[in-house]
Amino acid sequence: MVGGGSTYTPELVDGFARLRDTLPVDELVLVDPAADRLELVGGLARRILARQGHPGRVVTTADLDAGADGADAVLLQLRVGGQAARHQDETWPLECGCVGQETTGAGGLAKALRTVPVVLDIAERVRRAAPDAWIIDFTNPVGIVTRALLRAGHRAVGLCNVAIGLQRRFAGLLGVAPADVHLDHVGLNHLTWETAVRLGGPEGEDVLPRLLAEHGDAVAADLRLPRALFDRLGAVPSYYLRYYYAHDEVVREQRTRPSRASEVAALEAELLELYADPALDEKPGLLAGRGGAYYSEAAVDLAAALLGGGGSPYQVVNTRNDGTLPFLPDDAVVEVQAAVGRRGVAPLPVPALDPLFAGLTAAVSAYEDLALDAALRGGRDRVLRALLAHPLVGQYAYAERLADLLVAHNTEHLAWA
Ligand code: G6P
Ligand code: MN
Repeated sequence: MVGGGSTYTPELVDGFARLRDTLPVDELVLVDPAADRLELVGGLARRILARQGHPGRVVTTADLDAGADGADAVLLQLRVGGQAARHQDETWPLECGCVGQETTGAGGLAKALRTVPVVLDIAERVRRAAPDAWIIDFTNPVGIVTRALLRAGHRAVGLCNVAIGLQRRFAGLLGVAPADVHLDHVGLNHLTWETAVRLGGPEGEDVLPRLLAEHGDAVAADLRLPRALFDRLGAVPSYYLRYYYAHDEVVREQRTRPSRASEVAALEAELLELYADPALDEKPGLLAGRGGAYYSEAAVDLAAALLGGGGSPYQVVNTRNDGTLPFLPDDAVVEVQAAVGRRGVAPLPVPALDPLFAGLTAAVSAYEDLALDAALRGGRDRVLRALLAHPLVGQYAYAERLADLLVAHNTEHLAWA
C-alpha cells in the first residue's frame, strides 16, 4: 500500500482480516514517507491482524523500491500535499462562484496536476520492482490518474467506493443480500448514474422503478437532491452529481462552512491519537466519519479477482473505454461494470446512453483529456484550456482568474510553475 500511513489504512486492514478466505494475504507492506504516521498506523495494522488470528506479516518502510519488490498487487492511496493542499482546492474556486471540491471542477484540476506526475513516477518504480503486479488506484482524481497510468502502459485498474456504497444501501432498502444487487452503473469516476438496479446479476430483473416508488424519498435524502429529479432522470445519480445539479446551492453552503479538508484534518488528528493506544486492536468507530465506507470490501474483491483467488465476477471499475461508450475516445477511462478475472477487466456492454447523461459525460471526459495534458506537459495555457472545457467553469473570465489562482496556490507542487 503506497500511502500506507494514511488514516484510512485500518479500514483496508480490517477488510483483509475479515475477508481472508476471499483474499489470503501473507505480507502487507505499508510504504509512506511520513515515519511518525507509518509507525502508528503500522502498529494498529499488526494488532488488527493479530486479534483476528490472521497470519499475515505487516512491514512498514519509506523505501518504495524495496516495499514493492515481488508484490502481487500494489494499492495507491496517496494525497500529494495532504489536507492542506485539499483545503486550497476547496476554497479558491469559490472566489469565482465555482464549487470548491477536491475532485470536481477547478479544485479537481489542481489535484490532478499535483498528483499525476507523482503517481507515474511511483508506477514506473513499481514496474521495475514487480513487473507483473496489478496496480489498484484509489488515488484521486481516479479517472484522470487511471487514464495516465493506462496511457503509460501500466497494469492498472481504478477503484472508487460510490458504486459499492449504493449497492449496499439499495440491498438494505430492498431487503436482499448485497451480492444479489447488480447495478447498471455508467459514466466517469465521480460522474455516474445507476440506470438500473438488477436482482441476481447483469440479466436480472430491473427493480429500480420499484426502489424509487417505495424508497425514493430516502434515497433523495441520502443524496441531498430533490426527489422529483430522480423521477425525471429515471436513474439514481452519484452524490458527486449534486455538484452539477445543485451547483449554486452547494456554493452557498460552502461559503458558510469550514472546508471538508479542515474537518478531515481534525478527524485525522483524533484518529492518530486513538491509533497510538496499544490497547486498540480494531478499526475505531470514528473512522466511519471519513468517506471511505466499504473501500476495503471493494479492494479485497478486486484484488481477489485479479489475482485469481475468487471475488465477484462483475465489479464496477475504472478502465479503458474501448468502445463501451461509443461517443468517447477509446483511451478515455470510464467507470462501468466489468467482468473481472486473472486476465484483467473487460467492461460489460452498455445500452445506448440517454443524451441526458451522454452530454455531460462527453463534456467531462473531454475536460479530463485536457486536464491530463496539462498534468503531463504543464503550462498555464493548458490549465486554461482544461478550465474552459469544464462544464462547471466554462466562462472565459473565470477560467483566466482560476488559472492564476490554481498556479498561485500550487507553485511548490508544480515543476513548471
Ligand atoms: C468517497 C469518494 C473518495 C473520496 C472520499 C473522501 O469515498 O469515493 O474518492 O476520497 O469519499 O472522503 P473524505 O473523508 O476524505 O472526505
Ligand atoms: Mn471515489
